[in-house]
Amino acid sequence: MELPRADSSVRPQVASLFEQAGGIEGLERVLADFYDNVFVDSMIGFMFAGADRKRLVRLEAELTARLLGATEIAYSGRPVGTVHRPHRIFGGQFERRMMLLSEALDRHHVPVAVRTAWLEHNRAMRQQVTVDLGAECDGPEAQSVARGAGGLPLEEWSPGESG
Ligand code: HEM
Repeated sequence: MELPRADSSVRPQVASLFEQAGGIEGLERVLADFYDNVFVDSMIGFMFAGADRKRLVRLEAELTARLLGATEIAYSGRPVGTVHRPHRIFGGQFERRMMLLSEALDRHHVPVAVRTAWLEHNRAMRQQVTVDLGAECDGPEAQSVARGAGGLPLEEWSPGESG
């Protein structure tokens, strides 16, 4: 009788969320598709007129890599609050972007653990991105993760700074 060999094929292998996402190339593939749709979206596309799509894909891939645990990858963009504040983004526009992102994650069959972490971390950044200071549009899941994105290369945007 042949016994199972003690090699890597029978040892449990747990890939990190970043690996499950296909590394930086996997993230860039999803984000390129996502931004293709964002740029032409009837609700939020106008906000990206003149924005550099390739640069956005690269910077957001870096940011997302870090969200997924690849802290060895540096985020070379500007702080998220600083970038978005001049655009005066409302809660509905934030939700529209979340929907486009979740559709892109579906199209690319992103593993559920990666999908959940990605969407939750983006949702946790809502207060840095939008001018809606109240939480009246947030669901309970947003409340529970709002302080959960520790270690990010992001600045805090306190209500006092919103102008
Ligand atoms: C959690 C959600 C979001 C994340 C993680 C995110 C991430 C980013 C990143 C990494 C950049 C590039 C930063 C840089 O240029 O240095 C960027 C730029 C930008 N984002 Fe977002 N973003 C989010 C939400 C939104 C929303 C909801 C909108 C509008 C509906 C938006 C509109 C823009 C625009 C227009 C730029 C280009 C800004 C410029 O070049 O002046 N973002 N975003």
